[in-house]
Amino acid sequence: MTKKIALISGDGIGPEVTKQGMKVLEKLEEISDVDLEFEEFPFGAEHYLDTGELVTDEAKEELENFDAIYLGAVGDPRVKPGVLEHGILLDLRFSFDQYINLRPVKLLDSRFSPLKDKEPQDIDMMIVRENTEGLYAGVGGFLKEGTKDEVATQEMINTYKGVERVTRYAYEYAQKRNDEKKLTLCDKSNVLTYAHDLWQRVFEEVGANYKDVTMDHMLVDAITMKMVRNPEDFDTIVTCNMFGDIITDLGAEIQGGMGLAVSGNINPEGVSMFEPVHGSAPDIAGENIANPLAAILAAGMMVKELGWEEEGEKIETAVQRSLQNDYSTPDMGGNLNTDEVGDHICSILE
Ligand code: NAI
Ligand code: MG
Repeated sequence: MTKKIALISGDGIGPEVTKQGMKVLEKLEEISDVDLEFEEFPFGAEHYLDTGELVTDEAKEELENFDAIYLGAVGDPRVKPGVLEHGILLDLRFSFDQYINLRPVKLLDSRFSPLKDKEPQDIDMMIVRENTEGLYAGVGGFLKEGTKDEVATQEMINTYKGVERVTRYAYEYAQKRNDEKKLTLCDKSNVLTYAHDLWQRVFEEVGANYKDVTMDHMLVDAITMKMVRNPEDFDTIVTCNMFGDIITDLGAEIQGGMGLAVSGNINPEGVSMFEPVHGSAPDIAGENIANPLAAILAAGMMVKELGWEEEGEKIETAVQRSLQNDYSTPDMGGNLNTDEVGDHICSILE
């Protein structure tokens, strides 16, 4: 069945890297039964400067009819910081209730990890981050702002519904990801005795339906140490919004940095959005030197989540092969340009 993809290539290097992702997806369609239909949306700095529009309500209604959004990056020096990021990226995440942030941490070649003696089989985990609540819900306020008596609060919102749905998703994920079938809850339940008590109870309750999944629990501070020392101990991790923000960036570094980090903002019942983790890199935009591998891997992740598991895996394998042979951009130690890397991935797929 044809899946409909909305392409938002965005700003800076966004269009350059998603172009390579598109090339790879088209090649994949040629050689497999993956069947995609694309429509491009113009959201980003240029469109905003021309029209004053970020993402309109009409556009969101239209996007409802798509199976997924493939996003480059947004952010432009001509626009006040935060305007595009909030008005496009965060707005889409919230409007489509993308309550899961899925962040694979997978080392493709041992040379790229800053950790000594770690091989690809040692660093291979999936982090499932709650994406809508916690400390990021924007609830709080000031009292006596700007005085020496000032009080500032930021409340950590944890709803049963929010915790249950992300936990259930994580169990499902752990169950199908590999034979290990292990799910680690990352929290701070020893100190956050209300908020993370709820997480603990929900983790137990939902886990009762997934008897074949091994339940594991670790405090967030212990996790940061263990991700560095013994990353091989992790399989699937589920965590709240803030801890997820931090440990996914730690994960990105141990697997080789932003050049390879990808992110899925998932609503399993709705429209999900896939993107490289890096930003629009205005400092190198237009030079055909941006590393397109994260955007290509994000395309692979999208294909997997749309149900073509094996085909998405093929993209990942092709990226791994090209890295091993140093067919990459200078930031990964190679000497190809953006286009050439895309072409090379296509030729491996072929
Ligand atoms: P950035 O990720 O765009 O760039 C940081 C550094 O990494 C720069 O030196 C850049 O040249 C390099 N870099 C990034 N991606 C690269 C790639 N694919 N290949 C080679 N080098 C790469 O982060 P920065 O500079 O903090 O932000 C720039 C703009 O991007 C800002 O407007 C920011 O708000 C936005 N941004 C957007 C994101 C998104 O759309 N998801 C995420 C992060 C930042
Ligand atoms: Mg972050």
